[in-house]
Amino acid sequence: MRVSLIFTFCVVYCSPSLLLEVESVKTTSFVHPGGIHPQEQLDFVKEKVAQKEQPYFNAYLQLLNKTAQAFTHPTHAVANFSIPGYYVNASMHINRSWPLQADSFDAYACALAYHISGGQPIFANHSLRFLNAWAYLNVAYSDSDGPLVMTYAGTGMVIAGELLYNYNGWNSTDRTKFFHWVTNVYSKASNQIKTNANNWGDWGRLGSILSAHLFDNSSQLQTVVNLIKGDLFHKIAPDGHMPEETRREANGIWYTYFSLAPMTAACWVNYQTTKENLFNVSQGNASIKLALDYLYYYNMHPDQWPWYKNPNKGSPSSWPGNLLEAMGSLYNDSRYIDYVQSARPIIYPTHHFAWTFPTLMRIQLNDYF
Ligand SMILES: *[C@@H]1O[C@H](CO)[C@@H](O)[C@H](O)[C@H]1NC(C)=O
Ligand SMILES: *[C@@H]1O[C@H](CO)[C@@H](O)[C@H](O)[C@H]1NC(C)=O
Ligand SMILES: *[C@@H]1O[C@H](CO)[C@@H](O)[C@H](O)[C@H]1NC(C)=O
Ligand SMILES: *[C@@H]1O[C@H](CO)[C@@H](O)[C@H](O)[C@H]1NC(C)=O
Ligand SMILES: *[C@@H]1O[C@H](CO)[C@@H](O)[C@H](O)[C@H]1NC(C)=O
Ligand SMILES: *[C@@H]1O[C@H](CO)[C@@H](O)[C@H](O)[C@H]1NC(C)=O
Ligand SMILES: *[C@@H]1O[C@H](CO)[C@@H](O)[C@H](O)[C@H]1NC(C)=O
Ligand SMILES: *[C@@H]1O[C@H](CO)[C@@H](O)[C@H](O)[C@H]1NC(C)=O
Ligand SMILES: *[C@@H]1O[C@H](CO)[C@@H](O)[C@H](O)[C@H]1NC(C)=O
Ligand SMILES: *[C@@H]1O[C@H](CO)[C@@H](O)[C@H](O)[C@H]1NC(C)=O
Repeated sequence: MRVSLIFTFCVVYCSPSLLLEVESVKTTSFVHPGGIHPQEQLDFVKEKVAQKEQPYFNAYLQLLNKTAQAFTHPTHAVANFSIPGYYVNASMHINRSWPLQADSFDAYACALAYHISGGQPIFANHSLRFLNAWAYLNVAYSDSDGPLVMTYAGTGMVIAGELLYNYNGWNSTDRTKFFHWVTNVYSKASNQIKTNANNWGDWGRLGSILSAHLFDNSSQLQTVVNLIKGDLFHKIAPDGHMPEETRREANGIWYTYFSLAPMTAACWVNYQTTKENLFNVSQGNASIKLALDYLYYYNMHPDQWPWYKNPNKGSPSSWPGNLLEAMGSLYNDSRYIDYVQSARPIIYPTHHFAWTFPTLMRIQLNDYF
């Protein structure tokens, strides 16, 4: 609206060159850092930590423990990230996924500590060590799980890049190289899987919206939002179960978590960027909250899971604790909070990156200040 007012004003009064300049204002530019960790959230947490307020303070000490380890870690980039299907060769799948998972975790932890510490460059520099390693060496992903693992493990790299967006110790050569990696490898993988029906699609959408935010690409962001809205009530049935995931036999509860974690994270990025709230969109009784309630209930009562006998369940300190920690504060649901309280502070172990530091990085829909 402001732009169109200026535009109208200019049509009447301005010189053609000024009009051109005003026109260019129309291209959206998102706020950086933003997306999954908006500046307000970073400022809020920084203040809580400075005041030694819990649970933030202990969560920060735990983060510092992770960064102290990261400082000693070598980088593990590979040229061709080749991941066989988990059900084809589990040990090879795990072994080859690990280099990106480990480096992403370290890059993300250090980039976050850079902000919460009040901008100490040592953290940013260590984060860049991991980003540079992949940006300069990795050119491809391959094999049947390559695009999926690149997408869910690489999220940590993209979040780190977003957090370091304004860091003046990141020179333009390295920055450009990293942006090329996001375009040519990371985004390619996430865009490739974002229309899949099951959790692959949710990870693709999270990867795609994070990249869209990094590159100020509002049309790509809108594409993701349309995908989320387009099949939300295919993914979430009227009773809250997720048919694409509940059929995964012994791992139906895990896959339900593995779909909701990136879905909610993508909705959070969208909310922070556009203020559009998908967390309470509903159709009949079905909503994201109903699916979370379903996950919460059956993770507590796996013996009642209607889809498989004795399914695997998670725990407060791992999955779905990380997701319920984030969603407990977002929806202000005391049951979720009670579930995770004794496990705080929660850091999700190195595997995928949606709700990785949920105790430290409080999630809420209303303003932080
Ligand atoms: C981090 O915490 C672990 C487990 O409590 C401990 O064994 C390790 O020494 C700590 N590492 C650092 C660098 O503080
Ligand atoms: C990566 O490896 C796959 C086979 O696993 C191969 O088809 C592909 O060409 C390789 N890509 C590059 C860029 O080396
Ligand atoms: C799986 O990969 C490992 C190497 O990581 C290899 O030793 C093993 O033979 C493979 N298993 C199958 C079933 O192909
Ligand atoms: C992966 O396999 C290689 C070769 O066998 C081995 O050196 C390495 O320690 C393994 N990595 C992990 C994380 O298991
Ligand atoms: C961080 O990196 C910048 C740019 O290379 C350098 O100027 C600065 O001295 C480094 N600082 C620390 C604490 O590593
Ligand atoms: C950018 O930083 C890298 C270290 O990551 C360094 O090797 C390179 O020389 C720097 N380039 C410029 C143009 O300053
Ligand atoms: C935005 O993303 C779309 C879809 O990925 C792509 O086609 C387009 O070139 C991007 N626009 C810009 C300005 O990068
Ligand atoms: C969803 O949230 C928005 C913003 O907080 C609010 O305006 C809207 O009324 C809510 N819708 C429902 C169905 O609760
Ligand atoms: C919605 O929930 C109410 C209350 O639990 C229930 O009575 C009703 O049958 C549900 N509707 C559908 C379509 O599942
Ligand atoms: C959250 O819910 C509790 C009850 O469980 C209520 O006392 C509190 O006021 C709520 N907080 C907000 C911010 O709505």
